[in-house]
Amino acid sequence: MPQDDPIALLQAGAARHAEGQWTKAEWLYRQVLKRRPQDPNAHNLLGVLARQRGDAAGALRHTERALAASPEEPVFLANRGAALAEAGRLAEAVIAFRAALARRPEDPVTLRNLGQALCGLGDPAAALPPLAQAAALLPEAPEPRLALAHARREAGDAAGAAAAAGEALARAASQPALAEQARFLLAALGGGPAPGRAPAAYVRDLFDQFAPRFEAELTGRLDYRTPALLAGLLERAGLAPARRLRVLDLGCGTGLSGAALAGFARRLEGLDLSPRMLAEARRRGLYDALHEADLLDWLPRHPGGFDVVAAADVLNYLGDLAPALAAIHGALAPGGVAAFSLEAGVGAPFALGAAMRFRHDAGHVAGLAEAAGFAVLAQEAAVLRQEKGAPVEGLLFVLRRD
Ligand SMILES: C[S@@+](CC[C@H](N)C(=O)[O-])C[C@H]1O[C@@H](n2cnc3c(N)ncnc32)[C@H](O)[C@@H]1O
Repeated sequence: MPQDDPIALLQAGAARHAEGQWTKAEWLYRQVLKRRPQDPNAHNLLGVLARQRGDAAGALRHTERALAASPEEPVFLANRGAALAEAGRLAEAVIAFRAALARRPEDPVTLRNLGQALCGLGDPAAALPPLAQAAALLPEAPEPRLALAHARREAGDAAGAAAAAGEALARAASQPALAEQARFLLAALGGGPAPGRAPAAYVRDLFDQFAPRFEAELTGRLDYRTPALLAGLLERAGLAPARRLRVLDLGCGTGLSGAALAGFARRLEGLDLSPRMLAEARRRGLYDALHEADLLDWLPRHPGGFDVVAAADVLNYLGDLAPALAAIHGALAPGGVAAFSLEAGVGAPFALGAAMRFRHDAGHVAGLAEAAGFAVLAQEAAVLRQEKGAPVEGLLFVLRRD
């Protein structure tokens, strides 16, 4: 490669980028900018890289520099939309995606991004046409069909959602993670047996997308109360908020639960599957340590280290609770306390609801807890939050490791 040729440097950067060598790609793009500080393609690709790393501010900065040089370029407009979506600015993202599509109407990725942003804004009906068009443009691809299935489910068309999920599944033979997600959606629609848990990739993507809007939505519109309810029940079960305990916040998200648990903690650790939720938690500056992991993998590797293990609005992504209860039991010191919420179900030990979360039967959970070696210290029914204008009925448990 001629060392000074910006075009060759840009191409080399794009090749490294496609191979996943992000550091090398970034270095090459920056070499381009040393030679041509306004180069729109280098800024655009640095913006894509920043977005892939979860750096929404960096992504916006670079895509804006690219657009300053080429305001009509549909690729730059589409990437600005994606950066805005990453930052949680969905209404502005929709405008940018539409501007890109006005100039390049048959771009399936931008059509899908537009549909997903409209769904995120609570308008699944508006998301259906772009998602259907994305699916038609890529007849063999499972992703747009899965996105279409989710939008149809949210729009209340269960049969159409199941049909699209089935089509996604049929096209996902070489993508096991996507196939698992399609099967999970089919199960939530009543079209198959409920698996023992939500797929980790589904949970991660869901919360990665939700992260920048999570706190505003949960504490505002959705009146989310689980962390305060759990902390209250812990106190009533005899735990003093005297900052003396080693506390693990499972599925800590952005840290709303950590804030409620901090009063009990001499040391507070958080664990979550979603790197974007963890980035928000890190900004809060509350945790002594944060771990990116699946709780079922992490807990067995950390035996006996905690006095309290709490999970607010987390175990409803698991159906069969026996492995999680055994893992929590193992992570607690003798006499340690587990506290968690679940969504309330009746009859079956657990069932997968249309909202794609599990509901659990209180009696069954109490039996599982005892079988895992816990004593039930407290158990309560409570409204956890609102969803589509209706209360989400929940269960709160405080258990002691005997
Ligand atoms: C609804 S949020 C609740 C966050 C926080 N506990 C709170 O009360 O605000 C659920 C969180 O649990 C995480 N989560 C779900 N299943 C998980 C698993 N198996 N392992 C680790 N984290 C998980 C999700 O990524 C998400 O951040």
